[in-house]
Amino acid sequence: MTKSALITGITGQDGAYLAKLLLDKGYKVHGLVARRSSDSRWRLREMGVEGDIVYLDGDMADACSVQRAVIKSAPDEVYNLAAQSFVAASWDQPVTTGIVDGLGVTHLLEAIRQFSPHTRFYQASTSEMFGLIQAERQDENTPFYPRSPYGVAKLYGHWITVNYRESFNLHASSGILFNHESPLRGIEFVTRKVTDAAARIKQGKQQELRLGNIDAKRDWGFAGDYVEAMWLMLQQDKADDFVVATGVTTTVREMCQIAFEHVGLDYRDFVKIDPAFFRPAEVDVLLGNPAKAQRLLGWKPKTDLQTLIRMMMDADMKRVAKE
Ligand code: NAP
Ligand code: GDD
Repeated sequence: MTKSALITGITGQDGAYLAKLLLDKGYKVHGLVARRSSDSRWRLREMGVEGDIVYLDGDMADACSVQRAVIKSAPDEVYNLAAQSFVAASWDQPVTTGIVDGLGVTHLLEAIRQFSPHTRFYQASTSEMFGLIQAERQDENTPFYPRSPYGVAKLYGHWITVNYRESFNLHASSGILFNHESPLRGIEFVTRKVTDAAARIKQGKQQELRLGNIDAKRDWGFAGDYVEAMWLMLQQDKADDFVVATGVTTTVREMCQIAFEHVGLDYRDFVKIDPAFFRPAEVDVLLGNPAKAQRLLGWKPKTDLQTLIRMMMDADMKRVAKE
């Protein structure tokens, strides 16, 4: 029998990779899409799946629309990827971030509880919940210490998922994913900001790149690998929480070096430090331990950072050349 999936945040980076993965597995894929005045489906076009999805209008802040999407899609699996996901913006929009990334999760869980309790649920939790890290390598048992309104809102989303699993016996899993990137990454995130700028500088369309804290360290993986872990979580008999990471951490500075070197440039000639891009509170370092995901899901990252950044650079070089 064809399985039905509902993806919130389907127009985002992970939504596009996950939609492709599920369609390739034979799922009927529904996407909750918030109304926007400009085109938001470009990533789905890039993945070649725009015409294969059933679109349902809705917004995570609007419980009625979320409920309607659950009823209409009659999903076997729901992947809650929708979020205001840019950490820096969460200080400018703390309330919206709290509603969409926090309370929005309850809208969805409550709709599943009432109308579709057999549905399996995936919550897009985040390594930002570890924030001011309480252990050198973070795993499922590491205490949380979020450092941004985004991290705080996501922590609510994480715990309400755990709570609905324990209170109502829902098959609700939380994936604590570390940073993952791709050529479809939003331009505001540091990896894409760097690869886009390096491509422009190489092609004479930009002179410099202004960045904030380039000593910050992140555990970066490839989005295409990480959506497989999401799917695997919902195929388990038992719902649970899983850290998904590479187990390697790298500074923003080193990431710049990889990107610029790939097109024969030295990042030090172009990167300028700009206080405007520093955050009110920083997450200095993240380093995940994905041992549980490896043991129980059989999941391992396939793409290292060098390969990932080169893939992003090649895509940006082509795109910038066409502009
Ligand atoms: P993304 O590219 O920013 O995509 C976010 C998606 O959420 C977009 O489709 C966006 O729609 C949608 N959205 C935003 N506000 C909404 C609302 N009020 N109602 C309905 N939809 C809304 O994020 P991503 O990188 O794919 O990440 C997917 C999820 O994983 C997010 O929840 C993020 O917080 C979480 N996460 C990401 C990472 C990472 O490194 N990428 C790591 C850990 C966790 P529009 O396109 O119309 O704005
Ligand atoms: N965006 C950005 N722009 N970040 C910069 C810049 C800059 O100009 N300069 C330095 N950085 C540093 C940030 O301060 C941060 O320490 C690091 O680069 C990564 O920033 P982002 O790429 O914006 O990602 P993030 O780590 O804050 O958040 C991403 O990963 C989380 C998982 O840990 C997002 O995808 C979140 O949604 C996700 O939950």
